[in-house]
Order: sequence, then structure tokens, then C-alpha cells
Amino acid sequence: MTRFEPIVTQRLVLRPLEACDRTRLIELANNWRVAKNLSQMPYPYTAASADDWLGKQDALWAGGKCVNVAITLEGQFIGGAGVSVRDHGDWELGYWVGEPYWNRGYASEAAAALRDHAFDSLKLGFVVAGHFSDNHASGRVLSKLGFRYTKESQRYCLALGKEVRCLDMVMDRVRWLEVRGLREPAAAHR
Ligand SMILES: CC(C)(COP(=O)(O)OP(=O)(O)OC[C@H]1O[C@@H](n2cnc3c(N)ncnc32)[C@H](O)[C@@H]1OP(=O)(O)O)[C@@H](O)C(=O)NCCC(=O)NCCS
Repeated sequence: MTRFEPIVTQRLVLRPLEACDRTRLIELANNWRVAKNLSQMPYPYTAASADDWLGKQDALWAGGKCVNVAITLEGQFIGGAGVSVRDHGDWELGYWVGEPYWNRGYASEAAAALRDHAFDSLKLGFVVAGHFSDNHASGRVLSKLGFRYTKESQRYCLALGKEVRCLDMVMDRVRWLEVRGLREPAAAHR
């Protein structure tokens, strides 16, 4: 099933997850430093975890409540990202990049493209995001994208097996137009 057209950025291609991602997915996702920062990533991340995740992609796409992508660099899987409906009904942006690829701007590039997809193609009014309070790199990514902090919450982390303090963020369409330079910042109207 073709799920969506790949999203091409300056250096990356974001495309549907495929069976060919399996080996790299297991290799990169089976990392405590990745799993402990995500709410739903199992740890250890086994072949069965990958098969489960890859095997549900068609059904998830058909359900119309998520866009999950493989982040690829020169044809190789380097991480995953998605926008999907959470249990409270809001669309949430999430992402992870394999540790060998950290601090090269890949998460920012992929997440910015998905943010734009969420507003441009999915026509969402707002998108939420959040990060565990000690995950400063992710806070930096989301701030650079234009997300703003809203509140704190407790969120269950599957890998840690407990609730973790989470900093919640949001971006609405007006803010998105501002950061894209398509609308004057609100302060400029005063
Ligand atoms: C968080 C994560 C996605 C960042 O990926 P990345 O590709 O390294 O991100 P980028 O290179 O685009 O940007 C990282 C930014 O954080 C900054 N950063 C990195 N480590 C930092 C730290 N310890 N404290 C503060 N800032 C930090 C970098 O300098 C960079 O900011 P800059 O562009 O202003 O220099 C990656 O570390 C990861 O996958 N972590 C595990 C999973 C995860 O945390 N996912 C997000 C869940 S909310």
C-alpha cells in the first residue's frame, strides 16, 4: 500500500517505514539513551519489537490518525518520526534519531518537515509536542521549530517503567505562519 509521497528535505528523505528498515531499526532503536527519552519505545528493542512496529504501519495509516516516517539519509534509515493523534485527541509530533547521527541537525530538519506537513497537508489547527524535563536536546529542537511551552505533565515512559516529568509544548497555525515568515509576529501589530 502506498501510504504517502516521500517528503524530501535538504539532506533527508522522510518516507513510509518499510520491511527493508528492519535491521537498521533494531540496531539504532536498541539504545537506552534513545528509549529512555521516548514514552512508547520498548527497551530492549528486539527483532520482535521491530516486526510488531513495521507490521502495524499499513493499519495505522489506514486508520487516518498518524503519519509515521522513516528518516533516511542517502537511502539509509537513521531514525523515525511521526505526527499522530494521542489519547486526548490532539495531534502530537515525535521523533528520534540514532545516536551515531546526533548533533548534525537531522532531527531539526526532519521535525520541521513533519511540522510543515501537519499544517500544510493535514491542515491541522495546532500540533502538540513535549519532552522529558532532562531531555534538553529535544527541548532545543522543538524551540528552534517554534513550539512554545504550555505546562508540565507526568508521562509514562515504557523503557523506564514509570511516570516522568514532561514539559508540554504547542504550536498553532498562527505561530506556524509566523515562524515561516508568512505572517508578522503578533507583537509587531501593537
Ligand atoms: C533529541 C534528538 C532527537 C536530537 O536529535 P539531533 O539530530 O541530535 O538534533 P539536532 O542536531 O537537530 O538538534 C539538537 C540541538 O540540541 C542541542 N543539544 C544537544 N545536546 C544538548 C544538551 N545536552 N543540552 C542542550 N542542548 C543540546 C544541539 O546543540 C542542537 O542545538 P543547535 O542546533 O542549536 O546547536 C536525539 O538526541 C534523540 O533521538 N534522542 C533520543 C530520543 C528523543 O529524545 N526523542 C525526542 C523525544 S521528545
